[in-house]
Amino acid sequence: MLMKSDGHRGDAPHGPDPGALAERFPRNFVWGVATSAYQVEGAAHEDGRGDSIWDEFCRRPGAIKDGSSGERACDHYHRVGEDIGLIASLGANAYRFSVAWPRVQPLGAGEWNEKGFDFYDRLIDGLLERGIEPFLTLYHWDLPQALQERGGWMSRDTVGRFVDYAAEVARRYGGRAASIATHNEPWVIAILGHEAGIFAPGLKSQKMAMQVSHHLLLSHGLALQALRAQHCAAPLGIVLNQAPIHAATDSAADLARARLDDGLTIRWYMDALLLGRYPDDVLEFLGEDAPQIEPGDMAAIRQPLDFLGINYYTRHLSGTGAPLDRVESGREVTDMGWEVFPAGLSELLARLHADYRLPPLYVTENGAAYRDHLADGRVADVERIRYLHRHIAALADALEGGVDVRGYFVWSLLDNFEWADGYSKRFGLVFVDYATQRRTLKDSALWYRAFCARARSARAGGPAATTRRSNER
Ligand code: FCB
Repeated sequence: MLMKSDGHRGDAPHGPDPGALAERFPRNFVWGVATSAYQVEGAAHEDGRGDSIWDEFCRRPGAIKDGSSGERACDHYHRVGEDIGLIASLGANAYRFSVAWPRVQPLGAGEWNEKGFDFYDRLIDGLLERGIEPFLTLYHWDLPQALQERGGWMSRDTVGRFVDYAAEVARRYGGRAASIATHNEPWVIAILGHEAGIFAPGLKSQKMAMQVSHHLLLSHGLALQALRAQHCAAPLGIVLNQAPIHAATDSAADLARARLDDGLTIRWYMDALLLGRYPDDVLEFLGEDAPQIEPGDMAAIRQPLDFLGINYYTRHLSGTGAPLDRVESGREVTDMGWEVFPAGLSELLARLHADYRLPPLYVTENGAAYRDHLADGRVADVERIRYLHRHIAALADALEGGVDVRGYFVWSLLDNFEWADGYSKRFGLVFVDYATQRRTLKDSALWYRAFCARARSARAGGPAATTRRSNER
């Protein structure tokens, strides 16, 4: 059943029939779309918002491919009503977004900015009115610049600042949010921001990066303790980017590198969060660059999780010459150059399920950038439909294999500011014309809409589509 609404095209979407796929999921499964504050909100200097490290990073010549910034982005701050309408028109039952810390606490310490909170009140209430569950992320990379000037995530003091911020946001929204995640992708923050230097704050030291990763994890654990102490009603968790690591060849060197990369990207986070320790092989590899850990830190990091979010885009090939091999091998890639590898999603989830005692999982991001063109009011993004279809099928495989997955979020609702790639990469289900801010549903949005409609009506057995507190343990 296709729903027509909001004056958007309602013709039959192209691509694989969503019906049979939808039937592989329980009726109360969460089908969502995701964004993050800096990538969509714009209004970077309105209503008292302070600078974030991304505002600052974007000012650096050469930092962003097209010289752009999130200053205006999708102007979501002013168009939030229209965008909630878009989510509703897709028939998605959840929206994952992040709160911009510098919007609600401009200096990252001290005063709260009521106008900033007003925006998230409007957003959350608007979602709830439309029956869409708000999945809130506290930190999707936009640290208040004032804190960066005092050492940022390198400084242990920032951990305390984050806990205060988390407690205030949870005090206000904990009763209305369907879930609260502390961090989005700590690996990216630590490594791309502090070792590779290609993301804010643009630093380049492995030692710093590992200290940052430890402080992020510690701030997660202490925030969970604080939120539980204040009886936060929302289920609490964290979101990790995870990719299965495959050796590029069978050479001993590549196999060893793959094992190490697995440690650095998967086990570092999973072991710390679920087992309360860092993996020995990685600590040994890091040597002097291992983080400073104070007594009690690891126990603080290992807090019970109500859920774990996994962002999945592709697998990772480790070893000598891997990137070259990827291109030469003719593997299918997206506009990011990321290999399309749906089997990696089921493989990853099955492996995590086998190796750890997991809380309920959500795929909190999955999607693809393609070179979309708007022609005659239409974006025929068949590749994205295929990508989504194949990944949702892989998710069904995992579910049928016994993994407790409760939801899936497409990255992204809208084309948006793709970090160092600026506006050159389009991930949206909805096309954004940045000059006019006009939104147009791509064919993939129509496909997802048809899919969500089928998913809702697919099985009579399950409870109605509400997941509130369903991920409680
Ligand atoms: C993830 C980020 C998200 C978006 C996608 C493409 O790593 O969490 O903000 O940029 O990649």
